[in-house]
Amino acid sequence: MRKPLVAGNWKMNKTAAAAVALIKDLVPLIQGIGDVEKVVCPPFTALMAVYPLLKGTDVGLGSQNLHWEKAGAFTGEESGEMIAEYCRYAIVGHSERRQYFNESDESANKRLLAGLEAGLIVIFCIGETLAEYESDKTEEVLRRQIAVGLKGITKERLSQLVVAYEPVWAIGTGKAATKDDANGVVKNVIRPAVQELYGKKAAHSVRVLYGGSVNGKNAAEYFSQSDIDGALVGGASLKPDDFSQIVRAASKSK
Ligand code: PGA
Repeated sequence: MRKPLVAGNWKMNKTAAAAVALIKDLVPLIQGIGDVEKVVCPPFTALMAVYPLLKGTDVGLGSQNLHWEKAGAFTGEESGEMIAEYCRYAIVGHSERRQYFNESDESANKRLLAGLEAGLIVIFCIGETLAEYESDKTEEVLRRQIAVGLKGITKERLSQLVVAYEPVWAIGTGKAATKDDANGVVKNVIRPAVQELYGKKAAHSVRVLYGGSVNGKNAAEYFSQSDIDGALVGGASLKPDDFSQIVRAASKSK
C-alpha cells in the first residue's frame, strides 16, 4: 500500500509572518486526516517560524531545495543537516530550479543523495518541457532524468524517495495534464524505469505524485488513477480551502 502524499510547494511566497498566518488557517482544516501524508514547503526564511506551529501536528515541513555539501563557502545555499533541523522533507530538481538557476540532472542527483543521507524524505521532481512534449520526447527525457537523478542511490534508501511527475508545460499554467495522460506516463514510463534500476517490488512501492495545476476541483481525478499517489501543489497550496480540498480528495481515493 502506498500512502497518499499531498505536498504544498509555496515557492517564493509568504514572509515569515504571512506563513504563520497561513499555517494557522490551514492546519485545522487538514490535521487528523490520517490516511494522507500532508506536507508544506514554505520558503527558507519561514521554516523556523512555522516549525513550532507544526510540532505535535501530523502536518510535515519541507524545504524547497538543499545543497549537497555538508558545510563551507557556498553562499546562499543550505545543507541537508541544516534543513533536517526543521524539516522531514525536501524538494529537489524542481523544474523552476532547472529552468531559472541552471540546475541539471547531475546537480539534482547530488542534492537527492545528500538529502537522503541527511535522513530526509526527498521529493524528486522530473518532467518534460513543452517543446519536448510536442516532439514526443517525454519518455526519453523522463528516462534520462531518472537514470541520472537516481545514480548511486541504493535500494535501501528508496523508501525515502518520492518522485513527482511535473510536466513543465502544466506548472502554473492552468493547463493540467489529463488524468489518463498523467497516469499513463507514471505507469508506462516512470515505474518501468525504476523497475529496470531496482526491480519490480521497488517500482511498485515507490510513491509517484502528479504536479502541475492541481486544484481542489481536479485533484480527485488524479487520485482515482491506479498509479498516482498524491500531488505536488503550487498555486493552490497557498489557499487553505483549496489545499484542504486536495487533501480530502486524496483521503477519499483510498
Ligand atoms: P502549480 O505548481 O500547482 O502552481 O502548477 C506545481 C509545482 O510547481 O510544483
